[in-house]
Amino acid sequence: MNIAVLYNDDASLTHGDAQDAIAVQAVAECAAAVAKALRTHGHAAQELGLAPDPREAVRQVAELRTELAFNLVEGLGGDPRKDQAFAWLLELHGIAYTGAGPRALGLCLEKPLARGVLAAAGLPVPRGAVFERPDAPLGDLRFPLIVKPAREDASHGIAAESVVRDERALRARASFVIERYAQPALVEEYIEAREINAALLAGPRGLELLPLSEIDYSGFARDEAHIVTYAGKWIEGSRDWNLTQVIPAREFAAGQRDKLERVARRAFEVLGLCDYGRVDFRLDARDEPFVIDVNPNPDISPGAGFLLAAQRAGLSYDDVIARIVESALRRAHPAA
Ligand SMILES: Nc1ncnc2c1ncn2[C@@H]1O[C@H](COP(=O)(O)OP(=O)(O)O)[C@@H](O)[C@H]1O
Ligand SMILES: [Mg+2]
Repeated sequence: MNIAVLYNDDASLTHGDAQDAIAVQAVAECAAAVAKALRTHGHAAQELGLAPDPREAVRQVAELRTELAFNLVEGLGGDPRKDQAFAWLLELHGIAYTGAGPRALGLCLEKPLARGVLAAAGLPVPRGAVFERPDAPLGDLRFPLIVKPAREDASHGIAAESVVRDERALRARASFVIERYAQPALVEEYIEAREINAALLAGPRGLELLPLSEIDYSGFARDEAHIVTYAGKWIEGSRDWNLTQVIPAREFAAGQRDKLERVARRAFEVLGLCDYGRVDFRLDARDEPFVIDVNPNPDISPGAGFLLAAQRAGLSYDDVIARIVESALRRAHPAA
């Protein structure tokens, strides 16, 4: 089969830290790995880097002749909000593609919306509020709090200073996020204990939960923020990067794993993810789980947490890519 591996080939960024560019480059390497896996399965795979200028990207899609697009596009021109526009473009051209549709991409990037959908489905999310302005009312939120850009992903805008313990620090960080990222800040109660990643992958018997992972924060000092910062996710060799390890989840109390699985599957479903996804939890001191982030089309680079989880389920890189393709084709051709 003829498959085009689409990714955003961004040279420049429209906003945020200059360092944010590193995150954008990783996607090209991922596209090469996916194309290689597809060729191993006998597909004719072509990689196609989409130009940062959306008008040029529109032309590239118009000229595309392919049976399936493996969609790794995370945004255009460094703007993550364009990933949903791009998925609509594929829809408008009638091109079948892997991963989540535009609605799920839009909902999950807009964290306040995703929280609303999850809460409406009865799923647990941390208490929080959207700050359009740094002096927005705090209501009954209790410190410590975490301040995140309302519409970013991949730890953009997340640093040790994101966790705030008093009102002054909160206002300062909210002001920074609102100005620098030109968007509201989402202020959430900081859920202090474990961070669990639940990777979900379509399989021959429906959606499969891969073995749970967790972030090992044991290298951090006790009184430090235990969070995945931008540096921890992307800046190889930085202190946070060295300390932030994804490990197989340690043991859970009885029933806890089943509860996480139930919530993760339901979150995947209500937000409308397809083929693969990752639901991130924080547990509080009493082990109560809260969904903090739902990731449609999570990173599937060979070394990413998703692949480590797949490996533990006995799946190779090629297997994971094949499953995503099969699932996308089942959706595109339901009768087949
Ligand atoms: N409510 C919260 N309580 C504790 N830690 C949080 C909370 N929200 C986010 N974090 C930390 O910040 C990191 C990034 O936040 P997340 O919402 O996952 O944003 P992104 O979409 O950028 O990955 C998380 O991996 C986690 O370590
Ligand atoms: Mg996250």
